[in-house]
Amino acid sequence: MTAIARPKNLWLGRWGFVLAATGSSVGLGNIWKFPYMTGEYGGGAFVMVYLVCIAAIGVPVMMTEIALGRRGRGSPVDAIRRVVRESGRSGLWSGLGWMAMLCGFMILSFYVVVAGWAVSYLWKSLSGGLAADSVEGMAAIFGANNANPWNLGFWSTLVTVATMAIVGLGVQAGIERSVRWMMPGLVVMLVVMIVYAVFSGSFGAGVQFLFAFDPGKLTGQAILAAMGHAFFTLSLASGAILTYGAYLPADRSIGRTTLVVALCDTLVALMAGLAIFPVIFANGMDPASGPGLIFMSLPLAFQQMPLGGVIETIFFLMLTVAALTSAISMIEATVAWLNESHGLSRARAAWGVGVLLWIVSTLAMLSFNVGADWKLAGRHFFDWLDFLTSRFLMPLGGLGTALLAGFVLRRESLEEELGLPSALYALWRFTVRYVCPVAIVMVFLDALGVLNA
Ligand code: PHE
Ligand code: NA
Repeated sequence: MTAIARPKNLWLGRWGFVLAATGSSVGLGNIWKFPYMTGEYGGGAFVMVYLVCIAAIGVPVMMTEIALGRRGRGSPVDAIRRVVRESGRSGLWSGLGWMAMLCGFMILSFYVVVAGWAVSYLWKSLSGGLAADSVEGMAAIFGANNANPWNLGFWSTLVTVATMAIVGLGVQAGIERSVRWMMPGLVVMLVVMIVYAVFSGSFGAGVQFLFAFDPGKLTGQAILAAMGHAFFTLSLASGAILTYGAYLPADRSIGRTTLVVALCDTLVALMAGLAIFPVIFANGMDPASGPGLIFMSLPLAFQQMPLGGVIETIFFLMLTVAALTSAISMIEATVAWLNESHGLSRARAAWGVGVLLWIVSTLAMLSFNVGADWKLAGRHFFDWLDFLTSRFLMPLGGLGTALLAGFVLRRESLEEELGLPSALYALWRFTVRYVCPVAIVMVFLDALGVLNA
Protein backbone atom coordinates (compact mmCIF):
# COMPACT_ATOMS: atom_id res chain seq x y z
CA MET A 1 0.00 0.00 0.00
CA THR A 2 1.38 3.40 -0.90
CA ALA A 3 1.28 5.56 2.18
CA ILE A 4 0.74 9.23 1.54
CA ALA A 5 1.26 10.32 5.12
CA ARG A 6 2.87 8.80 8.17
CA PRO A 7 0.57 8.22 11.12
CA LYS A 8 1.46 10.24 14.15
CA ASN A 9 -0.71 8.16 16.44
CA LEU A 10 -2.12 4.66 16.15
CA TRP A 11 -4.50 2.73 18.39
CA LEU A 12 -2.36 0.45 20.49
CA GLY A 13 -4.73 -2.42 21.14
CA ARG A 14 -6.30 -4.75 18.63
CA TRP A 15 -9.72 -3.44 19.65
CA GLY A 16 -8.68 0.18 20.06
CA PHE A 17 -10.55 1.54 17.08
CA VAL A 18 -13.67 -0.57 17.56
CA LEU A 19 -13.93 0.39 21.23
CA ALA A 20 -13.36 4.07 20.56
CA ALA A 21 -15.64 4.26 17.51
CA THR A 22 -18.41 2.28 19.19
CA GLY A 23 -17.94 4.51 22.21
CA SER A 24 -18.36 7.50 19.95
CA SER A 25 -21.40 6.24 18.19
CA VAL A 26 -23.29 4.72 21.13
CA GLY A 27 -24.36 7.70 23.18
CA LEU A 28 -27.16 10.02 24.14
CA GLY A 29 -28.27 9.76 20.53
CA ASN A 30 -29.32 6.17 21.15
CA ILE A 31 -30.70 6.31 24.65
CA TRP A 32 -32.04 9.86 24.89
CA LYS A 33 -32.60 11.26 21.41
CA PHE A 34 -33.78 8.24 19.44
CA PRO A 35 -36.62 7.39 21.84
CA TYR A 36 -37.92 10.95 22.09
CA MET A 37 -37.68 11.55 18.34
CA THR A 38 -39.47 8.28 17.67
CA GLY A 39 -42.13 9.46 20.09
CA GLU A 40 -42.47 12.85 18.44
CA TYR A 41 -42.53 11.54 14.89
CA GLY A 42 -45.05 8.86 15.62
CA GLY A 43 -43.17 5.57 15.90
CA GLY A 44 -42.74 2.80 13.34
CA ALA A 45 -42.60 4.80 10.12
CA PHE A 46 -39.87 7.01 11.54
CA VAL A 47 -37.93 3.97 12.75
CA MET A 48 -38.22 2.39 9.32
CA VAL A 49 -36.82 5.41 7.49
CA TYR A 50 -34.09 5.68 10.10
CA LEU A 51 -33.03 2.07 9.56
CA VAL A 52 -32.99 2.51 5.79
CA CYS A 53 -30.84 5.64 6.19
CA ILE A 54 -28.38 3.79 8.43
CA ALA A 55 -27.96 0.98 5.92
CA ALA A 56 -28.06 2.92 2.66
CA ILE A 57 -26.33 6.16 3.64
CA GLY A 58 -24.75 5.78 7.08
CA VAL A 59 -22.71 2.65 6.45
CA PRO A 60 -21.17 3.73 3.12
CA VAL A 61 -20.45 7.23 4.44
CA MET A 62 -18.84 5.80 7.57
CA MET A 63 -16.61 3.57 5.45
CA THR A 64 -15.66 6.59 3.37
CA GLU A 65 -14.80 8.67 6.42
CA ILE A 66 -12.60 5.96 7.93
CA ALA A 67 -10.88 5.50 4.58
CA LEU A 68 -10.30 9.24 4.19
CA GLY A 69 -8.93 9.47 7.71
CA ARG A 70 -6.60 6.54 7.33
CA ARG A 71 -5.44 7.64 3.89
CA GLY A 72 -4.71 11.19 4.97
CA ARG A 73 -3.61 10.32 8.54
CA GLY A 74 -4.73 13.46 10.28
CA SER A 75 -7.48 15.80 11.39
CA PRO A 76 -10.31 16.22 8.88
CA VAL A 77 -8.80 19.40 7.43
CA ASP A 78 -5.34 17.92 6.98
CA ALA A 79 -6.41 14.44 5.95
CA ILE A 80 -8.82 15.67 3.29
CA ARG A 81 -6.28 18.15 1.96
CA ARG A 82 -3.68 15.39 1.57
CA VAL A 83 -6.03 12.95 -0.08
CA VAL A 84 -7.30 15.58 -2.50
CA ARG A 85 -3.75 16.58 -3.35
CA GLU A 86 -2.79 12.93 -3.88
CA SER A 87 -5.44 12.77 -6.56
CA GLY A 88 -3.97 15.80 -8.27
CA ARG A 89 -7.03 17.86 -7.45
CA SER A 90 -7.28 21.03 -5.51
CA GLY A 91 -10.03 23.35 -4.56
CA LEU A 92 -12.07 23.93 -1.55
CA TRP A 93 -12.58 20.35 -0.43
CA SER A 94 -10.80 20.85 2.86
CA GLY A 95 -13.75 23.11 3.63
CA LEU A 96 -15.52 19.82 4.34
CA GLY A 97 -13.02 19.27 7.13
CA TRP A 98 -13.66 22.72 8.54
CA MET A 99 -17.37 22.12 8.45
CA ALA A 100 -16.92 18.80 10.24
CA MET A 101 -14.88 20.36 13.02
CA LEU A 102 -17.41 23.14 13.45
CA CYS A 103 -20.18 20.57 13.55
CA GLY A 104 -18.43 18.47 16.22
CA PHE A 105 -17.88 21.58 18.31
CA MET A 106 -21.50 22.69 17.97
CA ILE A 107 -22.83 19.26 18.89
CA LEU A 108 -20.62 19.05 21.95
CA SER A 109 -21.87 22.47 23.05
CA PHE A 110 -25.37 21.15 23.63
CA TYR A 111 -24.37 17.55 24.29
CA VAL A 112 -22.60 18.47 27.53
CA VAL A 113 -25.86 19.97 28.78
CA VAL A 114 -27.74 16.72 28.23
CA ALA A 115 -24.82 14.75 29.63
CA GLY A 116 -25.03 17.11 32.61
CA TRP A 117 -28.66 16.04 33.07
CA ALA A 118 -27.48 12.44 33.13
CA VAL A 119 -24.78 13.08 35.73
CA SER A 120 -27.10 15.16 37.90
CA TYR A 121 -29.69 12.38 37.76
CA LEU A 122 -27.02 9.87 38.71
CA TRP A 123 -26.33 12.01 41.73
CA LYS A 124 -30.03 12.43 42.51
CA SER A 125 -30.54 8.72 42.20
CA LEU A 126 -27.76 8.04 44.71
CA SER A 127 -28.90 10.72 47.12
CA GLY A 128 -32.62 9.97 46.99
CA GLY A 129 -33.54 13.06 44.99
CA LEU A 130 -35.85 11.30 42.55
CA ALA A 131 -38.81 10.64 44.77
CA ALA A 132 -42.16 11.68 43.29
CA ASP A 133 -45.29 9.67 42.75
CA SER A 134 -46.65 11.15 39.54
CA VAL A 135 -45.53 12.27 36.10
CA GLU A 136 -46.18 15.82 37.22
CA GLY A 137 -43.96 15.29 40.22
CA MET A 138 -41.12 14.00 38.04
CA ALA A 139 -41.62 16.87 35.61
CA ALA A 140 -41.31 19.24 38.55
CA ILE A 141 -37.99 17.66 39.56
CA PHE A 142 -36.73 17.95 35.99
CA GLY A 143 -37.88 21.56 35.87
CA ALA A 144 -36.27 22.45 39.18
CA ASN A 145 -32.99 20.89 38.07
CA ASN A 146 -33.06 23.14 35.00
CA ALA A 147 -34.32 26.28 36.65
CA ASN A 148 -31.18 27.17 38.56
CA PRO A 149 -28.37 28.09 36.14
CA TRP A 150 -25.71 27.52 38.82
CA ASN A 151 -26.92 24.00 39.38
CA LEU A 152 -27.28 23.10 35.72
CA GLY A 153 -24.07 24.89 34.83
CA PHE A 154 -22.20 22.96 37.48
CA TRP A 155 -23.10 19.63 35.88
CA SER A 156 -22.39 20.64 32.30
CA THR A 157 -19.09 22.17 33.39
CA LEU A 158 -18.20 18.93 35.10
CA VAL A 159 -18.78 17.03 31.86
CA THR A 160 -16.77 19.60 29.89
CA VAL A 161 -13.83 19.28 32.26
CA ALA A 162 -13.90 15.47 32.20
CA THR A 163 -14.07 15.46 28.39
CA MET A 164 -11.19 17.85 27.98
CA ALA A 165 -9.08 16.07 30.57
CA ILE A 166 -9.38 12.78 28.70
CA VAL A 167 -8.77 14.27 25.26
CA GLY A 168 -5.89 16.36 26.58
CA LEU A 169 -4.08 13.22 27.73
CA GLY A 170 -3.79 12.06 24.15
CA VAL A 171 -5.05 9.37 21.82
CA GLN A 172 -3.59 6.38 23.62
CA ALA A 173 -3.18 7.57 27.20
CA GLY A 174 -6.46 9.48 27.23
CA ILE A 175 -9.03 8.21 24.74
CA GLU A 176 -7.95 4.62 24.29
CA ARG A 177 -7.19 4.02 27.94
CA SER A 178 -10.56 5.40 29.02
CA VAL A 179 -12.67 3.49 26.49
CA ARG A 180 -10.83 0.29 27.38
CA TRP A 181 -12.71 0.14 30.67
CA MET A 182 -15.72 2.34 29.95
CA MET A 183 -16.97 0.27 27.01
CA PRO A 184 -16.92 -3.12 28.76
CA GLY A 185 -18.63 -1.39 31.68
CA LEU A 186 -21.25 -0.04 29.34
CA VAL A 187 -21.93 -3.49 27.91
CA VAL A 188 -22.33 -5.01 31.37
CA MET A 189 -24.75 -2.27 32.44
CA LEU A 190 -26.72 -2.61 29.23
CA VAL A 191 -27.06 -6.35 29.69
CA VAL A 192 -28.30 -5.82 33.25
CA MET A 193 -30.86 -3.32 31.97
CA ILE A 194 -32.12 -5.62 29.24
CA VAL A 195 -32.42 -8.66 31.46
CA TYR A 196 -34.29 -6.52 33.95
CA ALA A 197 -36.61 -5.10 31.29
CA VAL A 198 -37.39 -8.55 29.94
CA PHE A 199 -38.40 -9.79 33.38
CA SER A 200 -40.29 -6.74 34.53
CA GLY A 201 -41.82 -4.88 31.61
CA SER A 202 -44.32 -5.80 28.96
CA PHE A 203 -42.65 -5.52 25.62
CA GLY A 204 -45.81 -5.70 23.57
CA ALA A 205 -46.77 -2.06 23.52
CA GLY A 206 -43.18 -0.98 22.87
CA VAL A 207 -42.72 -3.38 19.99
CA GLN A 208 -46.00 -2.25 18.52
CA PHE A 209 -45.04 1.41 18.71
CA LEU A 210 -41.51 0.94 17.38
CA PHE A 211 -42.33 -1.30 14.45
CA ALA A 212 -45.90 -0.64 13.37
CA PHE A 213 -45.55 1.04 10.02
CA ASP A 214 -47.95 3.86 9.33
CA PRO A 215 -46.87 5.64 6.13
CA GLY A 216 -49.36 8.42 6.77
CA LYS A 217 -46.98 9.77 9.37
CA LEU A 218 -44.13 10.27 6.92
CA THR A 219 -43.76 13.97 6.26
CA GLY A 220 -40.73 15.50 4.58
CA GLN A 221 -39.68 16.87 7.94
CA ALA A 222 -39.91 13.44 9.55
CA ILE A 223 -37.76 11.92 6.81
CA LEU A 224 -35.16 14.68 7.11
CA ALA A 225 -35.17 14.21 10.86
CA ALA A 226 -34.63 10.46 10.46
CA MET A 227 -31.79 11.02 8.02
CA GLY A 228 -30.19 13.67 10.21
CA HIS A 229 -30.44 11.33 13.14
CA ALA A 230 -28.79 8.52 11.19
CA PHE A 231 -25.75 10.79 10.72
CA PHE A 232 -25.85 11.93 14.32
CA THR A 233 -26.13 8.50 15.84
CA LEU A 234 -23.22 7.15 13.78
CA SER A 235 -21.09 10.21 14.63
CA LEU A 236 -20.70 11.08 10.94
CA ALA A 237 -19.86 14.40 9.29
CA SER A 238 -18.53 15.74 12.57
CA GLY A 239 -14.89 14.78 12.33
CA ALA A 240 -15.23 12.08 14.97
CA ILE A 241 -15.10 8.93 12.87
CA LEU A 242 -12.72 10.39 10.30
CA THR A 243 -10.20 11.36 12.95
CA TYR A 244 -10.49 8.05 14.79
CA GLY A 245 -9.95 6.43 11.38
CA ALA A 246 -6.68 8.33 11.08
CA TYR A 247 -5.36 6.18 13.95
CA LEU A 248 -6.50 2.87 12.47
CA PRO A 249 -3.60 0.52 11.65
CA ALA A 250 -3.21 -0.26 7.96
CA ASP A 251 -4.06 -3.95 8.22
CA ARG A 252 -7.57 -3.59 9.66
CA SER A 253 -10.62 -4.07 7.48
CA ILE A 254 -12.64 -0.89 7.17
CA GLY A 255 -15.75 -2.67 5.94
CA ARG A 256 -15.86 -5.11 8.79
CA THR A 257 -15.21 -2.55 11.52
CA THR A 258 -17.88 -0.27 10.07
CA LEU A 259 -20.44 -3.06 10.21
CA VAL A 260 -19.59 -3.84 13.83
CA VAL A 261 -19.94 -0.20 14.88
CA ALA A 262 -23.16 0.42 12.94
CA LEU A 263 -24.71 -2.80 14.18
CA CYS A 264 -23.89 -2.09 17.83
CA ASP A 265 -25.27 1.41 17.51
CA THR A 266 -28.52 0.24 15.93
CA LEU A 267 -29.00 -2.52 18.49
CA VAL A 268 -28.53 -0.15 21.39
CA ALA A 269 -31.02 2.34 19.94
CA LEU A 270 -33.66 -0.31 19.34
CA MET A 271 -33.12 -1.84 22.76
CA ALA A 272 -33.39 1.55 24.39
CA GLY A 273 -36.68 2.04 22.59
CA LEU A 274 -37.90 -1.40 23.60
CA ALA A 275 -37.02 -0.74 27.21
CA ILE A 276 -38.46 2.76 27.38
CA PHE A 277 -41.76 2.71 25.49
CA PRO A 278 -43.43 -0.09 27.47
CA VAL A 279 -42.78 2.02 30.57
CA ILE A 280 -44.24 5.09 28.91
CA PHE A 281 -47.39 3.29 27.87
CA ALA A 282 -47.80 1.31 31.07
CA ASN A 283 -47.90 4.61 32.96
CA GLY A 284 -50.15 6.39 30.50
CA MET A 285 -47.48 8.93 29.57
CA ASP A 286 -47.21 10.83 26.33
CA PRO A 287 -44.50 9.39 24.05
CA ALA A 288 -44.20 12.81 22.39
CA SER A 289 -43.08 14.64 25.49
CA GLY A 290 -39.76 15.69 24.00
CA PRO A 291 -36.21 15.93 25.36
CA GLY A 292 -37.31 15.38 28.96
CA LEU A 293 -38.86 12.00 28.09
CA ILE A 294 -36.40 9.61 29.71
CA PHE A 295 -35.72 11.92 32.64
CA MET A 296 -39.35 12.04 33.66
CA SER A 297 -40.77 8.69 32.67
CA LEU A 298 -38.05 6.29 33.71
CA PRO A 299 -37.44 7.47 37.28
CA LEU A 300 -41.17 7.20 37.89
CA ALA A 301 -41.32 3.70 36.51
CA PHE A 302 -38.24 2.56 38.39
CA GLN A 303 -39.87 3.59 41.64
CA GLN A 304 -42.69 1.18 41.17
CA MET A 305 -40.49 -1.76 40.28
CA PRO A 306 -38.65 -4.23 42.47
CA LEU A 307 -34.96 -3.30 42.78
CA GLY A 308 -35.90 -0.12 40.95
CA GLY A 309 -33.55 2.08 42.96
CA VAL A 310 -30.49 0.07 42.04
CA ILE A 311 -31.51 -0.21 38.42
CA GLU A 312 -32.15 3.51 38.25
CA THR A 313 -28.60 4.22 39.43
CA ILE A 314 -27.20 1.77 36.91
CA PHE A 315 -29.24 3.41 34.16
CA PHE A 316 -27.96 6.91 34.81
CA LEU A 317 -24.41 5.66 35.26
CA MET A 318 -24.75 3.94 31.90
CA LEU A 319 -26.07 7.14 30.34
CA THR A 320 -23.15 9.09 31.77
CA VAL A 321 -20.55 6.65 30.48
CA ALA A 322 -22.18 6.48 27.05
CA ALA A 323 -22.24 10.29 26.87
CA LEU A 324 -18.62 10.67 27.89
CA THR A 325 -17.25 8.22 25.33
CA SER A 326 -19.16 10.17 22.67
CA ALA A 327 -18.22 13.60 23.95
CA ILE A 328 -14.49 12.92 23.72
CA SER A 329 -14.84 11.95 20.07
CA MET A 330 -16.60 15.20 19.13
CA ILE A 331 -13.67 17.36 20.02
CA GLU A 332 -10.82 15.04 19.05
CA ALA A 333 -10.79 16.42 15.50
CA THR A 334 -10.22 19.98 16.67
CA VAL A 335 -7.62 19.01 19.25
CA ALA A 336 -5.80 16.84 16.72
CA TRP A 337 -5.83 19.69 14.23
CA LEU A 338 -4.39 22.20 16.72
CA ASN A 339 -1.83 19.63 17.78
CA GLU A 340 -0.70 18.59 14.31
CA SER A 341 -0.92 21.78 12.33
CA HIS A 342 -0.25 24.34 14.97
CA GLY A 343 2.20 22.58 17.21
CA LEU A 344 0.14 23.03 20.37
CA SER A 345 0.54 20.29 22.94
CA ARG A 346 -2.52 18.08 23.35
CA ALA A 347 -3.15 19.45 26.80
CA ARG A 348 -2.93 23.09 25.73
CA ALA A 349 -5.12 22.45 22.70
CA ALA A 350 -7.72 20.67 24.82
CA TRP A 351 -7.91 23.30 27.55
CA GLY A 352 -7.93 26.14 25.02
CA VAL A 353 -10.82 24.61 23.09
CA GLY A 354 -12.38 23.73 26.42
CA VAL A 355 -12.67 27.36 27.44
CA LEU A 356 -14.37 28.24 24.17
CA LEU A 357 -16.63 25.26 24.51
CA TRP A 358 -17.51 26.18 28.05
CA ILE A 359 -18.67 29.62 26.92
CA VAL A 360 -20.86 28.30 24.11
CA SER A 361 -22.26 25.44 26.19
CA THR A 362 -23.08 27.84 29.00
CA LEU A 363 -25.16 29.85 26.54
CA ALA A 364 -26.88 26.61 25.54
CA MET A 365 -27.45 25.72 29.18
CA LEU A 366 -29.11 29.10 29.79
CA SER A 367 -31.83 28.12 27.31
CA PHE A 368 -33.39 26.16 30.17
CA ASN A 369 -33.53 28.97 32.69
CA VAL A 370 -32.62 32.64 32.44
CA GLY A 371 -32.55 32.49 28.63
CA ALA A 372 -35.88 30.71 28.27
CA ASP A 373 -37.23 33.66 26.31
CA TRP A 374 -34.19 34.18 24.10
CA LYS A 375 -35.70 32.64 21.04
CA LEU A 376 -35.06 33.09 17.38
CA ALA A 377 -37.77 31.85 15.06
CA GLY A 378 -39.26 29.85 17.90
CA ARG A 379 -36.07 28.08 18.89
CA HIS A 380 -33.70 28.44 21.82
CA PHE A 381 -29.98 28.54 21.32
CA PHE A 382 -29.87 24.92 22.54
CA ASP A 383 -32.45 23.90 19.93
CA TRP A 384 -30.62 25.80 17.22
CA LEU A 385 -27.37 23.95 17.86
CA ASP A 386 -29.18 20.64 17.60
CA PHE A 387 -31.31 21.68 14.62
CA LEU A 388 -28.51 23.22 12.55
CA THR A 389 -26.16 20.29 13.04
CA SER A 390 -28.60 17.41 12.53
CA ARG A 391 -30.80 18.87 9.83
CA PHE A 392 -28.24 20.86 7.96
CA LEU A 393 -24.51 20.46 8.60
CA MET A 394 -24.51 16.68 8.89
CA PRO A 395 -26.54 15.85 5.78
CA LEU A 396 -24.54 18.46 3.87
CA GLY A 397 -21.27 17.02 5.16
CA GLY A 398 -22.41 13.53 4.20
CA LEU A 399 -23.29 14.78 0.73
CA GLY A 400 -19.88 16.43 0.36
CA THR A 401 -18.08 13.31 1.56
CA ALA A 402 -19.95 11.10 -0.89
CA LEU A 403 -19.32 13.45 -3.81
CA LEU A 404 -15.65 13.82 -2.91
CA ALA A 405 -15.12 10.07 -2.74
CA GLY A 406 -17.32 9.27 -5.71
CA PHE A 407 -16.30 11.88 -8.22
CA VAL A 408 -13.26 13.88 -7.19
CA LEU A 409 -10.68 11.47 -5.84
CA ARG A 410 -8.60 9.24 -8.02
CA ARG A 411 -10.24 5.85 -8.07
CA GLU A 412 -7.31 3.86 -6.69
CA SER A 413 -6.94 6.07 -3.68
CA LEU A 414 -9.88 4.85 -1.65
CA GLU A 415 -10.08 1.52 -3.46
CA GLU A 416 -6.73 0.61 -1.93
CA GLU A 417 -7.74 1.89 1.47
CA LEU A 418 -11.06 0.05 1.56
CA GLY A 419 -9.59 -3.20 0.28
CA LEU A 420 -13.00 -4.65 -0.57
CA PRO A 421 -13.77 -7.63 -2.83
CA SER A 422 -14.64 -6.18 -6.23
CA ALA A 423 -18.41 -6.69 -6.06
CA LEU A 424 -18.61 -4.97 -2.71
CA TYR A 425 -16.35 -2.20 -3.91
CA ALA A 426 -18.64 -1.64 -6.88
CA LEU A 427 -21.61 -1.51 -4.54
CA TRP A 428 -19.88 1.01 -2.28
CA ARG A 429 -18.89 3.15 -5.26
CA PHE A 430 -22.34 3.11 -6.76
CA THR A 431 -23.79 4.06 -3.40
CA VAL A 432 -21.51 7.04 -2.76
CA ARG A 433 -21.82 8.24 -6.35
CA TYR A 434 -25.55 7.98 -6.78
CA VAL A 435 -27.59 6.64 -3.88
CA CYS A 436 -26.25 8.96 -1.17
CA PRO A 437 -26.22 12.20 -3.17
CA VAL A 438 -29.62 11.64 -4.74
CA ALA A 439 -31.22 10.58 -1.46
CA ILE A 440 -29.77 13.47 0.51
CA VAL A 441 -30.71 16.08 -2.07
CA MET A 442 -34.21 14.66 -2.41
CA VAL A 443 -34.83 14.64 1.29
CA PHE A 444 -33.61 18.22 1.52
CA LEU A 445 -35.87 19.37 -1.29
CA ASP A 446 -38.79 17.47 0.11
CA ALA A 447 -38.33 18.98 3.55
CA LEU A 448 -38.14 22.41 1.99
CA GLY A 449 -41.45 21.70 0.37
CA VAL A 450 -40.15 21.89 -3.17
CA LEU A 451 -41.24 18.37 -4.05
CA ASN A 452 -44.68 18.85 -2.57
CA ALA A 453 -45.37 22.14 -4.25
N1 PHE B 1 -23.15 9.33 17.99
C1 PHE B 1 -23.31 10.03 19.22
C2 PHE B 1 -24.60 9.61 19.90
O1 PHE B 1 -25.37 8.87 19.36
C3 PHE B 1 -23.30 11.51 19.04
C4 PHE B 1 -22.14 12.03 18.25
C5 PHE B 1 -22.36 12.86 17.19
C6 PHE B 1 -20.83 11.68 18.60
C7 PHE B 1 -21.29 13.35 16.45
C8 PHE B 1 -19.76 12.18 17.87
C9 PHE B 1 -20.00 13.02 16.82
O2 PHE B 1 -24.88 10.02 20.97
NA1 NA C 1 -25.44 6.75 18.40
